[in-house]
Amino acid sequence: MFKGILIEKDDAGYRATLTDISEEQLPPGNVTVRVSYSTLNYKDGLALTGNGPVVRTFPMVPGVDLVGTVEQSSDAEFQIGDQVLLNGWGVGEGHWGGLAEKARLEGKWLIQLPKAFTPAQAMAIGTAGYTAMLAVIALEKNGLRPDMGDVLVTGANGGVGSFAIAILARLGYRVVASTGRMAESAYLKQLGAADIIDRATLSEPGRPLAKERWAAAIDSVGSHTLANVCASIRYRGTVAACGLAQGMEFPGSVAPFILRGITLAGIDSVSRPRADRLQAWARLATDLDLSMLPLISREIGLSEVIAIAPQLMAGKIRGRVVVDVNR
Ligand SMILES: NC(=O)c1ccc[n+]([C@@H]2O[C@H](COP(=O)([O-])OP(=O)(O)OC[C@H]3O[C@@H](n4cnc5c(N)ncnc54)[C@H](OP(=O)(O)O)[C@@H]3O)[C@@H](O)[C@H]2O)c1
Repeated sequence: MFKGILIEKDDAGYRATLTDISEEQLPPGNVTVRVSYSTLNYKDGLALTGNGPVVRTFPMVPGVDLVGTVEQSSDAEFQIGDQVLLNGWGVGEGHWGGLAEKARLEGKWLIQLPKAFTPAQAMAIGTAGYTAMLAVIALEKNGLRPDMGDVLVTGANGGVGSFAIAILARLGYRVVASTGRMAESAYLKQLGAADIIDRATLSEPGRPLAKERWAAAIDSVGSHTLANVCASIRYRGTVAACGLAQGMEFPGSVAPFILRGITLAGIDSVSRPRADRLQAWARLATDLDLSMLPLISREIGLSEVIAIAPQLMAGKIRGRVVVDVNR
């Protein structure tokens, strides 16, 4: 038996409990992993609280990220004792995920843990840091360079936002952070933000075209914020859209696209091919200052996860939460 969080939905309602799970209950897969760390992402918060339709089959072990040691493998790429890393692939949604002491997975979803990171560091970065890196790479692919002007990051205190600021600042960009928590300005400046704006200035319905302010943006908020960001991007600039913390709708106009030639780059981390994952993790090894990790993340035990999830949904958690699944 091992410990894990199980989400169930039946006549008694929707609930998440920390419970004992037997190895026979694990889903099919060709690699069994002894999990050391997982994380709490926005999506895990939705799954744990039932606030969003993230979980597709029940019962479900949540946790879209995990790192651990291979215990059994019939995949030639992974040997017993290998340290492996998983982000996404629908794990924690349609296949049992990382918030348990064991997981059974498909080898094609795994990568070897990059040597640059300890297991805990890889989970401090997790899907949030890997997504922020994918967004930065997308902006670079569209020609962004530090001398082109300010880059806006929305949802600044969140996991994706925190890493986007830290990576961009390290690469030499002047970063403007948009947040609803101005009281966290000192934290955002420590990450590297040069300027901080109140998210209320972006969250209401706006005009199709506004003053050109930013060379590019990374948006984890969506809705009116994304529409207003597009309306304020400079001629031929790019917005990397990766989240929906304000809402899933995009109440925007084509005006910035056809009059200013801006680009909206969609960022998906879940089904990303392995080559892109390896590239993003290699870039994280060189372009992220690891001394930022204790500032961005904090560690909790598996037993604390269920109580913390509502705080994440309420936007009260700063940065990242790493979960030591063995305590
Ligand atoms: N595309 C992908 O593959 C991918 C990968 C990872 C995450 N995501 C998505 O990206 C988003 C951010 O993820 P995360 O892990 O960084 O989540 P998070 O840690 O919960 O951060 C979200 C941040 O958004 C801001 N926010 C929250 N509610 C808001 C609202 N109503 N209006 C405006 N801003 C609001 C808050 O920042 P402030 O307090 O600073 O305002 C909050 O800290 C989520 O929607 C998540 O599902 C997508």
